[in-house]
Amino acid sequence: MGLHRLVYVSQARPSLGYADLFDIMEKSERNNKPAGLTGLLCFGDGWFLQALEGHRLAISQTYNRIVGDTRHLNAELLEFSPIAQRDFLDWSMKAIQVGQEKQEREIILRHSVNDMFTPVAMDAGQCLALMKELAAFHQRRGV
Ligand SMILES: Cc1cc2nc3c(=O)[nH]c(=O)nc-3n(C[C@H](O)[C@H](O)[C@H](O)COP(=O)(O)O)c2cc1C
Repeated sequence: MGLHRLVYVSQARPSLGYADLFDIMEKSERNNKPAGLTGLLCFGDGWFLQALEGHRLAISQTYNRIVGDTRHLNAELLEFSPIAQRDFLDWSMKAIQVGQEKQEREIILRHSVNDMFTPVAMDAGQCLALMKELAAFHQRRGV
């Protein structure tokens, strides 16, 4: 089965803390690499936005686990389709905490109606364009 990408948005549980984010990152690193998955997880203003790239079955199995995770709710699937190439090859799962810096707010504003990170109000194409630019920004800064 060829290369696929899945994009979803969800609401972070209000009590979500650093320890939760750290645990999510640690599990993602550990599980995604051997499964051949790459992607990006953005977290900000109470929202998660994640892209997963790789084998269709590996993505499905991982997404099914993620959806059942009580650290977020109301997951909405924005896209699950074949793709020609990966956009986040360098990362088994990089996490970006969005909106901490002025330049990030400018990037959000360029892709949204205001500078709040509200991926639930965007479609898959808009979310992907935003994620690519945020990833490029963080890669330039070497984070
Ligand atoms: C927003 C969010 C994103 C997550 N992303 C991933 C992921 O990319 N890969 C992964 O294996 N688990 C991810 N998780 C964690 C899974 O829900 C689950 O806790 C984990 O896969 C269990 O791994 P284990 O069976 O190795 O303990 C995510 C959880 C949340 C809340």
